[in-house]
Amino acid sequence: MTTPLLEVDSLSVTLPVDGRPQTVVSDVSFSVGAGEALGLVGESGSGKSMTARAIMRLLPKGASTLGDVRFDGTSVPDMSAKSLREWRSMRVAMVFQDPRAHINPVRPIGDFLCEVLVANRKVGRKQAERRAVEALRTVHVADAERRLRQYSYEFSGGLLQRVMIAAALITEPQLLLADEPTTALDVTTQEEVMAIIDELRRDRQMSMVFITHDLELAAAVCDRTAVMYAGRLVEERASDRLHRDGAHPYTRALLGARPSLDVDGERGTLAAIPGRPLAGYEAPDGCAFADRCPYCHPVCRSERPELTPVHNGLAACHFAERIADGTVLEGLPRA
Ligand SMILES: Nc1ncnc2c1ncn2[C@@H]1O[C@H](COP(=O)(O)OP(=O)(O)OP(=O)(O)O)[C@@H](O)[C@H]1O
Ligand SMILES: [Mg+2]
Repeated sequence: MTTPLLEVDSLSVTLPVDGRPQTVVSDVSFSVGAGEALGLVGESGSGKSMTARAIMRLLPKGASTLGDVRFDGTSVPDMSAKSLREWRSMRVAMVFQDPRAHINPVRPIGDFLCEVLVANRKVGRKQAERRAVEALRTVHVADAERRLRQYSYEFSGGLLQRVMIAAALITEPQLLLADEPTTALDVTTQEEVMAIIDELRRDRQMSMVFITHDLELAAAVCDRTAVMYAGRLVEERASDRLHRDGAHPYTRALLGARPSLDVDGERGTLAAIPGRPLAGYEAPDGCAFADRCPYCHPVCRSERPELTPVHNGLAACHFAERIADGTVLEGLPRA
């Protein structure tokens, strides 16, 4: 078997929250093959961004990690500062959730786009600008030469996110970590930006970890989808099998929580998941989803279910098999 491009192996992240160390990502493992796209899905606070930042070694001050991250077989936590810089500028790129927070407002956009090429690739400024203009055109930003001289406040949210994507792609990375690249955008812009990412990924055979809270969107653009809840992975399977074989009640609830067209073409109702999502450190013993689960049984409160193979995927639920089979727990008392 060939080595996957990215292997995340039992990754845990602990951060100071209100002055106390709290574990926000626990024992997360997944891999992404060359040219493959993996969706990482979950509600707010489930640990998606911290997982991506831990992969890049871009965690907030005071954070610590356990486990390993390997890129093409090389351990990222073991990389020297020089190797890390080279890796970040040549082989991997991240699109951040909030582009305004990551683009220097007092320097022109051209500097933001060119600096990685000039600093790490020994490309001259003129050539870097030519590449920046090309990159902006690729993400459908009109009037690219003029745009290079402008500042971030002169860009709408949608345009700025395109700039972020252009900056991520300018170095032609093998892996793109895209953290909610479309969440802050209106629906039409969202669709345009998604189409750009999808097209570029396919053209360049780039691998991607695509982070979103929208399970259907992840399933539409990714080969496989991994679902996080309270800092842990609770399901992972091929995206085209999620609807049929989704075996975790949380996955099922997420699939049901989005308006969908029913057979008559009417808008379905939004079946919101009751209760609130938990951060990893708020999770009780047993299954973290128990309080919100329609199938909760006493064992769910006493024993944490492990991520185990179910129907060609993985799910962490004591009753995953029966949920996937549709023999949904008749007669099981709620705890
Ligand atoms: N800089 C930080 N300092 C302390 N705690 C943080 C920090 N950033 C995130 N957290 C906490 O870590 C947990 C995981 O956060 P993370 O940002 O990974 O969630 P997320 O799944 O990306 O959520 P969202 O969908 O809102 O982006 C949350 O409880 C969050 O409050
Ligand atoms: Mg996030």
